[in-house]
Amino acid sequence: MAGYENLGWAGADTGSQMRLLLIGAPGAGKGTQAERLAERFGIAHISSGDLLRRHVTDGTSIGQLVQSYLDRGDLVPDGVVMDMLRKPVVAAAEAGGYVLDGFPRTVEQARTAFTTAQALGVEVQVAVHLDVARAELVRRLLARRRGSEDTEIVIERRLQVYLDKTVPLLTYYANRELTFTVDGAQSPDAVHADIVARLRDLPGVEGWRADPVA
Ligand code: AP5
Ligand code: MG
Repeated sequence: MAGYENLGWAGADTGSQMRLLLIGAPGAGKGTQAERLAERFGIAHISSGDLLRRHVTDGTSIGQLVQSYLDRGDLVPDGVVMDMLRKPVVAAAEAGGYVLDGFPRTVEQARTAFTTAQALGVEVQVAVHLDVARAELVRRLLARRRGSEDTEIVIERRLQVYLDKTVPLLTYYANRELTFTVDGAQSPDAVHADIVARLRDLPGVEGWRADPVA
């Protein structure tokens, strides 16, 4: 991570880590915002979707296994995602923190990951929900056209999977961790500013206000 030490987060006197999770529908801006937060706070951006797509591009055995799920807009089996992410998540937490983008994505994944993560002290601290209306999501994805994933039929499937499998995660985190919702329909700059402001206001987390850039 270039420049990581200079951003100061992990080097804060408290030694505190920043462990965030972004939850949002396809096209809500998880990747866009995760990248900015990672850069701002000097933490790792871990995107399950990006990692899975890289496996497909590289033709690995995982890639061959998951391609049809990605092409259909279905979730890949939990075991594949958990095995793929365990090491990078633990390594990132030890190095100062992470922003997770796309994982956990179901209550089941969150429960399973929590058991392992808590034992290691690397569990998610804050869940950020990016809220964007359906019409805007579809507009963004059709404009982007990321291969077979961004066709009308697959977008429809991804949105349905989000409603069925991921929306319950909002309640799960609201009952456990610090959780807040941001209006994701604003410009990327405005969404980022809102997230940072809300993080600074969070109660009871030592070191959260040590924003190295603001
Ligand atoms: P994943 O890669 O996570 O895809 P997704 O959730 O469908 O979301 P996207 O990456 O399409 O959108 P995003 O929210 O990141 O938005 P982005 O910033 O790119 O997952 C892909 C697949 O992998 C899944 O379908 C599944 O098969 C599998 N998978 C992944 N994780 C899994 C898991 N945990 N378990 C099982 N299976 C898993 O922005 C989208 C577009 O909008 C861009 O063009 C961007 O420039 C634009 N944009 C962003 N923000 C704004 C804004 N504020 N205003 C205007 N435009 C904006
Ligand atoms: Mg993404």
